Amino acid sequence: MLDLTSFEAFSSLKTPFYYYDAALLKRTISYVSKMSRKYGIEVHYAIKANPEERILRMISSSGLGADCVSGNEIVRAIRCGFKPSSILFAGVGKTDREIRTALRVGIGAFNCESVQELKIISSVAEKMRTVAPVSLRINPGIDAHTHKYITTGLQENKFGIDPVDLDEAVEVIKSSGWLDFKGVQFHIGSQILGIKEIFSLECRRAAELVSLVESKGLHVSSIDLGGGLGADYDEPDENPIPDFGEWFKTIVENLPCMEGRTIQVEPGRALVAQCGSLIARVIYIKPGSVRNFMILDGGMNDLIRPALYGAWHKIENLSAHYLRGNDEKDTVYDVVGPVCESADVFGTDRLLRESFRGDLIAIRSAGAYGAAMSSSYNLRTRARAVYSDEITKSR
Ligand code: LLP
Repeated sequence: MLDLTSFEAFSSLKTPFYYYDAALLKRTISYVSKMSRKYGIEVHYAIKANPEERILRMISSSGLGADCVSGNEIVRAIRCGFKPSSILFAGVGKTDREIRTALRVGIGAFNCESVQELKIISSVAEKMRTVAPVSLRINPGIDAHTHKYITTGLQENKFGIDPVDLDEAVEVIKSSGWLDFKGVQFHIGSQILGIKEIFSLECRRAAELVSLVESKGLHVSSIDLGGGLGADYDEPDENPIPDFGEWFKTIVENLPCMEGRTIQVEPGRALVAQCGSLIARVIYIKPGSVRNFMILDGGMNDLIRPALYGAWHKIENLSAHYLRGNDEKDTVYDVVGPVCESADVFGTDRLLRESFRGDLIAIRSAGAYGAAMSSSYNLRTRARAVYSDEITKSR
């Protein structure tokens, strides 16, 4: 159950809102920083998972770098304290304007995803009379065994340079006086749970591709293995912090060529998923002949993951737990939002405490790709962020 210091203060807030457990985020950041030092692996937080400014400030102040996918993310990362040189810039569709922004601020590297992109970065850099640091994002052809919308390392996905285009990519880099080659990057997918099995495969493939690139005459000084470490959506309280130690250990044990090179990773979800919950209120209980609907004031515009990926999030009735105690019966509900779409469903057939109009409901593990992917569809107001320590203060 979501741990609250003051249910009273919490329940006076206007719903829906995103609730962030600042202490858990702090513990997660300090654990990943410790593991990063222990295994000698550089961590760049994938800002797309949650670009909340306070979260970014907490992460940047611990010395981690950033992984960005837009010019706006780069600007925000810098505003929130990330060192420009610690910023990596990925994405299949970087515009000329975004490339100029990145060059102007002096990012650490462009993770380039096509031969044409390399040529454009070279020509923009030439016009600005500056040298662009570039790495090659190579599509490794690996199945991450995750949802098809968050698999990125297969040849049918749009991401990365197909190894068949490597010769041409290397030629562009060698013949341009405006590109400074850094290394290679991969990202095979997201919400990966088989740490040993999947990431060891990625490491072995990375080692092969590093040799291939070096056989073409470029020196690889950095190897970036992307993000992807999954979170436990079933049991957020039992496993609040993903196993970064196991991930990094798997990398050092399976990447024989790491000696003398910088090894980087780009986790997003693993840092922020568990610290966030979407908090909404029951507006109506609508029993039907087939389904029993619990209708919330938060909807798919606030958290689209269940609708888009069929993602499972734990749902809890906080009022039943904190106000009414444990002697209530359980009831099966389809938990839905108010948006005019049949897909506006947070969970079907959920066994929850009997619920009533006005109850506060928590949709757990929503810190990653929750607020970040929210919209104002149906002209709904976006859910604001509330941090645990702000509530304690307001008591
Ligand atoms: N690096 C690159 C190049 C990426 O494309 C991504 C995520 C990451 C790092 C961070 O991956 P993570 O550690 O968070 O798995 N909206 C989806 C997830 C999309 C991930 C997109 N790329 C979801 O809600 O599950």
